[in-house]
Amino acid sequence: MIHVAVLGYGTVGSGVVEVIETNKKDINKRAATELNIKYILDLRDFPGDPYESKVVHDYEVILNDPEVTVICETMGGINPAYDFSKRALLAGKSVCTSNKELVANHGPELISIAREHHCNYLFEASVGGGIPIIRPLNYSLTAEKIDSITGILNGTTNYILTKMDKEGADFEEVLKEAQDKGYAERNPEADVEGYDACRKIAILSSLMCGKNVKYEEIYTEGITKISSADFLYAKQMNKSVKLLAMSRDTENGFFAMVAPFMISKEHPLYCVNDVFNAIYVHGNMLGDSMYYGRGAGKLPTASAVVSDVVDCARHQGKTVMCFWENEDVKVVNIENDKGKFFVRVDSDKKDAAIEAFGALAEINVGIEKEFAFMTQVMTEKEFNDKIEKIGGCINRIRILSA
Ligand code: HSE
Repeated sequence: MIHVAVLGYGTVGSGVVEVIETNKKDINKRAATELNIKYILDLRDFPGDPYESKVVHDYEVILNDPEVTVICETMGGINPAYDFSKRALLAGKSVCTSNKELVANHGPELISIAREHHCNYLFEASVGGGIPIIRPLNYSLTAEKIDSITGILNGTTNYILTKMDKEGADFEEVLKEAQDKGYAERNPEADVEGYDACRKIAILSSLMCGKNVKYEEIYTEGITKISSADFLYAKQMNKSVKLLAMSRDTENGFFAMVAPFMISKEHPLYCVNDVFNAIYVHGNMLGDSMYYGRGAGKLPTASAVVSDVVDCARHQGKTVMCFWENEDVKVVNIENDKGKFFVRVDSDKKDAAIEAFGALAEINVGIEKEFAFMTQVMTEKEFNDKIEKIGGCINRIRILSA
């Protein structure tokens, strides 16, 4: 029997208990042992809950119980999750987490402590919710050199952008609806400003290169400047707007960014709508592969945490290999990255825009007093210099090359 403790009885933590309870027959068969929830750590009491008797308020009870060998950290945030996870690993107890913030900040350190203490620090649920993506990168694509990863990694923003696209609604309006439905947080900054996707792409990028990609070095733009007018233009061009998190191993260094992009109907990520996430991976032998599913939510995320618990049960006393060394990778400045841009300027800047960017085909959707166009391929720096020269623009969106 494997005795498990769950830290945090919130959305994901209660999901972990529900998944283990609902699928216990299959899970126990696959784990080749029985999983028993021995403790649930939370500040609150849960009178009437079937697991009420398992709730404890003192972490030391869990840490000092030698029977507990696997801990599910579903608390979120850095503190006290970092301290709890580190002490568990130092005591030889495996930790399975959904906490992307902690993984992005302290992943290599916690993985290395787990290795030294013959246990595991596993984080399948930290990226893409229920989508298996950490395991494919770690165990399945081991014959590949992964060249690039492009993902829709945030369910809240994908829901908002999908609604704006399909219903012509404005950002603020859809954000409010997403909050009312419980998809978006009351403080939605981490989602809409791209910070959540940034931490997730930092984790995937680190696994891609086996070294540490610091999320602080990743250029990040959110979706707050995207308007319903941008979607009118996107439609005219047979495109949509998606918040993409991407990284590439280039000859000039490691490239990573998070920003809204216009993507064409032919791209596999175009069809990823609502709260769904997808990760599009290019390997040098396999070519393209894509991983799709529910990127957020109680049961999908909990399912990924429990899959890690099963892995711990299968590898008791052993560490599952994970190549993510402490050495930092330099992320290159995006200014030399090349691409096309969709641009909207006030109509009185039309001549200046044509002079700066060359002869341009206008994209017209009948919006008065503005001039919209697509640029040729140019670097970010060239683009920014030209836009500065004409005194700014209403908006600009990068265009994903096919
Ligand atoms: N806020 C996140 C999202 C939750 O919307 O994708 C899952 O990490």
